[in-house]
Amino acid sequence: MTLPHPLVATRDDPYQDLAFVPSDKALVPFVSVDDMMRLVHFVGIEEMLRGLATYIEDDFRRWELFDKTPRIASHSKEGVIELMPTSDGEVYGFKYVNGHPKNTTEGLQTVTAFGLLADVATGYPVLLSEMTLLTALRTAATSAMVAKHLAPKGATTMAMIGNGAQSEFQTLAMKATIGLTTVRLYDTDPAATAKCAANLAGTGIEVIVCASPEEAIEGAQILTTCTADKRQATVLNDNLVGAGVHINAIGGDCPGKTELAEAILHRSDIFVEYPPQTRVEGEIQQVAEDHPVTELWEVITGRAPGRTGRDQITLFDSVGFAIEDFSALRYVRDALSDAGLGHMLDMLADPNDPRDLYGMLMRAGPDGVAQASSSVSQ
Ligand SMILES: NC(=O)c1ccc[n+]([C@@H]2O[C@H](COP(=O)([O-])OP(=O)(O)OC[C@H]3O[C@@H](n4cnc5c(N)ncnc54)[C@H](O)[C@@H]3O)[C@@H](O)[C@H]2O)c1
Repeated sequence: MTLPHPLVATRDDPYQDLAFVPSDKALVPFVSVDDMMRLVHFVGIEEMLRGLATYIEDDFRRWELFDKTPRIASHSKEGVIELMPTSDGEVYGFKYVNGHPKNTTEGLQTVTAFGLLADVATGYPVLLSEMTLLTALRTAATSAMVAKHLAPKGATTMAMIGNGAQSEFQTLAMKATIGLTTVRLYDTDPAATAKCAANLAGTGIEVIVCASPEEAIEGAQILTTCTADKRQATVLNDNLVGAGVHINAIGGDCPGKTELAEAILHRSDIFVEYPPQTRVEGEIQQVAEDHPVTELWEVITGRAPGRTGRDQITLFDSVGFAIEDFSALRYVRDALSDAGLGHMLDMLADPNDPRDLYGMLMRAGPDGVAQASSSVSQ
């Protein structure tokens, strides 16, 4: 179905003479996929990943003042659709996101998303944005920000297991934030690895294509798992995980979907975003409900230790939390005007008399031209 552009009257539009001109109060800045791509190129992807990591870290420092709730998930056999809300008391935000591992076989993405920020004082939306690209950027920025706190100092090499949509972002965020120099790629589908290797060519990262998980983890101080399979998979076996590494486990992010052998969890110190959500969705759904975990915001604010020893295995059991999306939307909102990007979307009804919504509607009809309000010019 093709819809006319909301602000453009077409030749066969019966209302074209009305020439609707929405008032300023009706308009909400909108960031399309095209705008987001232009923003990334305007800022530079590594600079943007660093900027996002800083915004996310800043919001983790103010963790206690946020409204927090596990995301609201609607599960099906094929995947999940989720809403992720939060507020810092002044700004409210939410993201709509799906996860459908089989989508790629139909030419669709596993993860798509959009999100919104609103002013808490009035409830009016202040930004509507695509978030499919932004989710990949923010997930990578979060991983890198966490690796900065938990990975062995001077880590240069990462095994990247799962070379799908998130993989280049994960790699570049580690390069931009902790100075990663080498990535060792493995995917059950060699085409995904070839795509990732080609995309990373020329980025300054040394790319090593590996034929097995065993080969991928050789010499790596950071092990990232980022696969999509809606089952309890074993992407990393216990015997693949040596002392002193940092595991960045991205793909186990909903009930019944995990990537790590359970024994790894018993050898690791586990760090999570928001326990009530991670206990249901993360790798730790495999262990007892009271299995010890540390909340990342406590490490970031210095209340809890992070890496304490050379042989310690640190595990970031990443599921993705609403505050990271909130931070990412804040970043986009701040960066947008410098870049001169975004569109105004006629999204909020704005009758002259706030209580006369019906009157506004009727004046917009064919018989209402004569009484048109100032939000309908002739
Ligand atoms: N934690 C978070 O914040 C967060 C954010 C976004 C996405 N995710 C999750 O990350 C995962 C990856 O997302 P994506 O968009 O890159 O998906 P994708 O479908 O584009 O890529 C997944 C890749 O994993 C590979 N794979 C599957 N099983 C494997 C195995 N056993 N060993 C090696 N490779 C294997 C597939 O061949 C595919 O190339 C998804 O499960 C998604 O839900 C998590």
